[in-house]
Amino acid sequence: MKGIILAGGMGSRLFPVTKGVSKQLLPVYDKPMVYYPLSVLMQAEIKEILLISTPQDLGQYQRLLGDGSRWGINLSYLKQDKPNGLAEAFIIGENFIKNDSVCLVLGDNIFYGSDLISHLKFAINQINESQKATVFGVKVKDPQRYGVISFDEKGNPNEIIEKPKIPSSDYAVAGLYFYPNSVIEIAKTIKPSDRGELEITSVNQIYLNKKKLCVEKLDRGFTWLDTGTHESLLEASQFIQTIEKRQGLKVGCLEEVAFQNGWISKQLLIKTANSFKNTGYGEYLINKYSGNDN
Ligand code: G1P
Repeated sequence: MKGIILAGGMGSRLFPVTKGVSKQLLPVYDKPMVYYPLSVLMQAEIKEILLISTPQDLGQYQRLLGDGSRWGINLSYLKQDKPNGLAEAFIIGENFIKNDSVCLVLGDNIFYGSDLISHLKFAINQINESQKATVFGVKVKDPQRYGVISFDEKGNPNEIIEKPKIPSSDYAVAGLYFYPNSVIEIAKTIKPSDRGELEITSVNQIYLNKKKLCVEKLDRGFTWLDTGTHESLLEASQFIQTIEKRQGLKVGCLEEVAFQNGWISKQLLIKTANSFKNTGYGEYLINKYSGNDN
């Protein structure tokens, strides 16, 4: 399976902050926003990852993340010339995906929950066993900001509508999607929406019509944060700070995920940690992993 992180867009709801810097490079507490979705792909044990961003921002992502070797992954980069929509990622990434299945994660979505890995495994199994795509439905207070899932009387999903004025349920589609290889051809068939974008919702609706879409609900033990506004960005930082301080564990710590996956040696982990020695991030890794018992 391949992974794609989409880190494009103008971030216009965060102007003037995002006039000079790409939104997904902004800090969420102690690390860049893009670390969180990247850590999700790594927790799904995906090693081949493509990052797509705007022509002007791509270089900054390359400077931050490099070729991925310090986490034992292989990162490549492609540009999206215009904000033509999320589904364009599969067209831009066609030669990268080749004959594989693919997981798309949005660079501004943060997922946190102890059962994250089991949800990721469920989605991967759906592809391997029945060629089904998976999206995740999360109950939110403001569904009209997202893709919204409608359910029939039996509770089965029957429609997904992008940013409906009057949402028919409280379930938003989170920015984490798993697809079989057919997504490339499906993305090529869809037409731009009224806002001029190739909507991921159109792709999902096609899988739903074919009865090839699993809608996996993430329940109350799970946290999904988006960071699209000043308020939600601040809240995301406060949430991560609270969890990290209280539990003494880091969220979205790429070196830790890579080490736990067996992708990097302890020596490489410590080497990277030493390069951020005077930060909480570096100290965390040094304190946790420089002993002999990990
Ligand atoms: C996009 C998708 C939407 C989804 C959301 C999740 O919205 O179009 O269906 O619910 O991401 O973050 P956008 O970020 O383009 O407003």
